[in-house]
Amino acid sequence: MTINKNNQLEKSLKLDKPTIGVCYYPEHWPENLWENDLERMIEHGIEVIRIAEFAWNKFEPQEGIFTFNFFDKFLSLAHRKGMKVIFCTPTATPPAWLTHKYPEVLNAKEDGTLYRHGMRRHYTYNSPKYRELTARIVDKIASHYCSHPAIIGWQIDNELNCETAVFYSDSDHAAFRTYLKEKFKTLETLNEAMGTTFWNQTYTSWDEIYLTRPTVNDSNNPHLSLEEKRFISYSTINYCKLQADIIKKYKGKTQFITTNGIMGHLDSHEMTNSTLDFITYDSYPNFAFDTWTEPKKPGNLNDRRSSWSLTNARSISSNFGIMEQQSGAGGWDCRMKQPAPKPGQMRLWTFQSLAHGADFISYFRWRTCWIGTEIYWHGLNDYSNQPNRRLKELAVVRDDFKKLSEIAGSYYEAKIALVKDYDNLWDGEQDKWHGPIDNFSDNGWFTAAQLTHTPLDFLYLQNKTSLEDLNKYELLIYPHATILTEEKAKLLKAYVQQGGVLIMGARTGYKDEYGRCPMHPMPGFASEICGVKVVDYTHLSAADDEEYSIWEEEEIEAPIFNDILEAIDGAKVLATFKGNYYDGEPSLVSNNIGKGTAYYYGAAFSANTAEIFLRKLGFACPYSSILDLPREAELAIRKKDEQDYMFILNYMSYSIEINIKQPMLNLLSGKEANGKVELEKYGVMALKKI
Ligand code: GAL
Repeated sequence: MTINKNNQLEKSLKLDKPTIGVCYYPEHWPENLWENDLERMIEHGIEVIRIAEFAWNKFEPQEGIFTFNFFDKFLSLAHRKGMKVIFCTPTATPPAWLTHKYPEVLNAKEDGTLYRHGMRRHYTYNSPKYRELTARIVDKIASHYCSHPAIIGWQIDNELNCETAVFYSDSDHAAFRTYLKEKFKTLETLNEAMGTTFWNQTYTSWDEIYLTRPTVNDSNNPHLSLEEKRFISYSTINYCKLQADIIKKYKGKTQFITTNGIMGHLDSHEMTNSTLDFITYDSYPNFAFDTWTEPKKPGNLNDRRSSWSLTNARSISSNFGIMEQQSGAGGWDCRMKQPAPKPGQMRLWTFQSLAHGADFISYFRWRTCWIGTEIYWHGLNDYSNQPNRRLKELAVVRDDFKKLSEIAGSYYEAKIALVKDYDNLWDGEQDKWHGPIDNFSDNGWFTAAQLTHTPLDFLYLQNKTSLEDLNKYELLIYPHATILTEEKAKLLKAYVQQGGVLIMGARTGYKDEYGRCPMHPMPGFASEICGVKVVDYTHLSAADDEEYSIWEEEEIEAPIFNDILEAIDGAKVLATFKGNYYDGEPSLVSNNIGKGTAYYYGAAFSANTAEIFLRKLGFACPYSSILDLPREAELAIRKKDEQDYMFILNYMSYSIEINIKQPMLNLLSGKEANGKVELEKYGVMALKKI
């Protein structure tokens, strides 16, 4: 990761003003609508459209017969109207003629059943035939359209690894073997790394190795399962690169290459760093109100929780794009039933993206589709094409954005970060002792940071992560680094020595990079950093009472899993367990090394526990001298050239009161804001210091 002088990650979107876009599907409507559509878009402040991501047949209606007339015609109209275009490669939806003739391109279920034509993303990255046909169509499209003056950039495919993030076709099994051969060289090394002596799984030939297939109890070798996820990510990145390399041969200097979405089994950081200019994300906060959710559950952040995904996007590209921003009710005919966004929510969600660093926000979609699976996924316009309240709200956003030009390129300012990595994320998917505790604590820290208005980043530990990347933060929280390599531990130790504060939690450091549990005292390489030894540990069962810790007379929750600790090498015991058979034993240890301090807490972190840590260590509410905010409001700070831009977002269906403690300029009203002010339901505010 390279950070520039404005504190931005190198792979960031660079725009001179926040810009509005929309996803448009000229192939869904009669040509005589195009002109009016484009004119109304421009009227509503839309400057960029994304097109063609599912339109393979428009370019290659029959195998090897290429036609460009349809989009040539559309692009020249768009250009005449002054509309800029993000053009997509159409590989998410292979044509029927293709999958019919070459069924080997199809993805398969675990049991080998092929996914057939009728949905999307039914292909596999590892099919040599699909790669060949992909390369050909991308080459044809890029060579034909790259020079078009309306095109400002390229989107590769659509949401790589969406719909399904597992691939079990014959080509995948074969490619997995090649991947393993390259990585492990000999079967002996592979068997050792994958722990195959257990249950007699030893491989005697590469051909015996498969990706997941049906097994008794759906239980698979956990080490091979982790390797499978690494392989899927590798395959996806490789497929993205295949396309990017072709586009790069033809594209104009200023045209960018991106893709949309952040999906499973994909190291999106590595993909962006190695193949793209920046990442774009698809933001659908309305999932919080789908039928399967519990929006009235206390402590549930609902649509505010989408800030989690935006934080993720920001960890890849400080300034990113939203390629699809929810603008209406969501639903397919076969699943998902989301309500219509209430008046104000579409604008609120737009500002949520903006506040987290998105400088390009493109709505999904211009008009609700009148055909197909997504007839209930509403766009800005209804089927009827009549004026409606969502278009009116868009006009408000258009006017808002005009007042916010100066925030473009500012970065989200956070002094604390939640440390993450793909190995633990993927290991935790199968490992039921690991994944759930990770999710629980991630949620705890995120919620605590949100409710206390403590801006939080995610910091992904990657091979390239340097001490400089860590030093950006005063506090790092790495809740359950179950897999912790010596190298990563060294980096964390150096960070603490230089003055950083690090918090780690139960279940740290007992696995190696293959997910095996080597014979060393727990928490492995974290022991030296945190000055701690785990002498006993247990999952809390339903038969146990709730477990607590006493920290300076304050009782804090110690849920899910307890590591019973011993302080070593001069470290201090700060808290002890209350309850259970280890009553009074150390639960929290702090260790001063160099100029910094590391903490080890022998439990998971509920939102309540995380909040107490933030408060006791002095990291909570860093802006409280300037703003008094109720917990219902989200605070996000964007910063550029020493200027702070403060975004306050109200997700509630009622107005809230905020107290501005020093004179500020309300960028949207253009007026001074000071003292107690009301923020209307679903309202947004953007302030800067005068
Ligand atoms: C996204 C996808 C869009 C559309 C939308 C609503 O995941 O990229 O094409 O399907 O969801 O379902």
